[in-house]
Amino acid sequence: MPVTATTEKPVHASGTFDLGDGLTIHRMGYGAMRITGEHVWGPPSDPDSARAVLRRAVELGTDFVDTADSYGPFVSEDLIREALHPYDGVAIATKGGLLRTGPGKWYPLATPAYLRQAVQMSMRRLGVETIDLYQLHRIDPEHDRDAQFSTLKRMQDEGWVRLLGLSEVGVDEIKAAQDAGLEVATVQNEYNLGTRKHEAVVDFCEAEGIGFIPWYPLNAGKLADNPVLEDAADALGASHSQVALAWLLKRSPVMLPIPGTSSIAHLEENVAAAEIEMPDDVFDTLDQATRS
Ligand SMILES: NC(=O)c1ccc[n+]([C@@H]2O[C@H](COP(=O)([O-])OP(=O)(O)OC[C@H]3O[C@@H](n4cnc5c(N)ncnc54)[C@H](OP(=O)(O)O)[C@@H]3O)[C@@H](O)[C@H]2O)c1
Repeated sequence: MPVTATTEKPVHASGTFDLGDGLTIHRMGYGAMRITGEHVWGPPSDPDSARAVLRRAVELGTDFVDTADSYGPFVSEDLIREALHPYDGVAIATKGGLLRTGPGKWYPLATPAYLRQAVQMSMRRLGVETIDLYQLHRIDPEHDRDAQFSTLKRMQDEGWVRLLGLSEVGVDEIKAAQDAGLEVATVQNEYNLGTRKHEAVVDFCEAEGIGFIPWYPLNAGKLADNPVLEDAADALGASHSQVALAWLLKRSPVMLPIPGTSSIAHLEENVAAAEIEMPDDVFDTLDQATRS
């Protein structure tokens, strides 16, 4: 059985993080990839329900929503604008640099001209003059990396984006971006209790004060039903998903989980995890059991 939230805005219990440039968010966010069609392609079967999930997330205190132009493509950004514009204190983080050629197909493309068009189109779809946080979805391995970094920096200097982030990068790549003059506000990498390959990146981000956004915080839903979490769930009176999210929040003060869901019931369950105080021994046992 999940823990039920005791307040109207449980997200606030996750604490805050200063992304930079005076933009402070609550650490538990919402990932808006799951409000599209199957395989993140096309519209959802019920767009009204998708908009309702977004509005309920904000009612519950969410002020950090993660999306990308490639989710749909364009569907997630469109729905966010329809449901939440003019945002009123909710930071929208989007991404560019992945092409879509069909359901489940993703290809990096981050040439300067393409990135500049992608940002302009995201600004138009989201209905903003400046994007709060723009993340390079993938460094494009076929094109000059420093040109990608300098293009991002230039768009920030031009006022198109307020803050910049990277996605699925190693420590060396973050350092290369910093050396190229990029102020890296966030790093978004796959990380959860079932996927621990980015421990060094989490530690680096913590040392540098960079926000770490774990994608797949529930391991794409697999952690919602995982025997490794059973004892902790029993001890805390929480669901497996809530244990997975509470563990992430305790892992580092720079951790900014963005669980994704198309369901209001799951959303309410997930944000209630922010109110869970995970004891050190429960955290350590899970840590040891899931480290590879
Ligand atoms: N940067 C990248 O390359 C990248 C890659 C992937 C994702 N992301 C970002 O990360 C966000 C989160 O990732 P994600 O949504 O793919 O994966 P996730 O948050 O790990 O898991 C979402 C899946 O779990 C299910 N779920 C959610 N809450 C649940 C609950 N309480 N109980 C049972 N099942 C639950 C959802 O189904 P229901 O809809 O039925 O709830 C959905 O299938 C995305 O929305 C996106 O913003 C980024």
